[in-house]
Amino acid sequence: MRALTFALALAALAAAAAPAGAQQAPAADPAKVQAVVKAAFPKAPADWQARLEQDATMRECTAHGNNPPKAASEAIRKREAAAIEYPPDGKFLGDWQKGEALAQSGYGLRFTDTSTSRPNGGNCYACHKLTRTELSYGTIGPSLGNYGKIRDFGAEDAKAVYEKIYNSHAAFPCSLMPRFGANKILTIEQIKDLVALLMSPESPVNKE
Ligand code: HEC
Repeated sequence: MRALTFALALAALAAAAAPAGAQQAPAADPAKVQAVVKAAFPKAPADWQARLEQDATMRECTAHGNNPPKAASEAIRKREAAAIEYPPDGKFLGDWQKGEALAQSGYGLRFTDTSTSRPNGGNCYACHKLTRTELSYGTIGPSLGNYGKIRDFGAEDAKAVYEKIYNSHAAFPCSLMPRFGANKILTIEQIKDLVALLMSPESPVNKE
C-alpha cells in the first residue's frame, strides 16, 4: 500500500506539472532522488533492494527532468530497444480475453502480494481508457480506444505495440509508463495477450 501510495504521489506530481501524458518534471540530482527513494522504504526486504536503485535510464531522466536533450534521448532509446526480447514463435497476437483480465489486474510486486501462483497484472486501466464498458480508468496515458481499428490492424503496428509494452522507453524515452517486459513485470506470453487486446478486430477495445 505504501509503495502504491508513493507511486501514485509521484505520478500525481508529474501529472500536475504538465498536461496528461506529457513528461516534464523538475530536473533533479539523481543521487538526491536515490537517497529519498531509499529512505522511503527503510524496511524493504532484501529482494526489493534492486528495485530501489535507479538504473542508467532513470538517472538520465531524473537529471534532465524527463526531457533529455537529443543525444541523450537517442542513447536511451537505443539501450532500451536492445533490451527487448521477442516472442520465439515470431507471433505478436495472443488471446485478447486474457489480455483484458491482465489490463484489469493490479496484482503483483507489492508487499502484500505473496502468492506464488497468481500472475502479475498489467494495471493498464490505472492510466489508460481501453474498453467502452469499463468506466473506471486513469488518464495519465492517452485513451487506447479503437487502437487497432485506427491502425487498420497492421502487422507492423502489432509489433510496435509489443515493443511499447515490453519497454516503453524504447519508443518514448523517459515515458511515465512502466517497462513491463524489461523489468520482468509481465512475461512475453502476457504481453502478447495485451497486444491482442489492442490489435485484434474481435477485441472490445476496437468496438468503441
Ligand atoms: C503509470 C501509468 C501507465 C501504465 C500503468 C500504463 N501506461 Fe501505457 N502509457 C502511459 C503514458 C504516460 C503514455 C504516453 C507516453 C508514451 O507513449 O510513453 C502511454 C502510452 C501507451 C501506448 C502508446 C500510445 C500511442 O499513442 O501510441 C500504449 C500502446 C500503451 N501505453 C499501452 C499500455 C498497456 C497495454 C498497459 C498495461 C500493460 C499500459 N500502457 C500501462 C502510462 C501508462
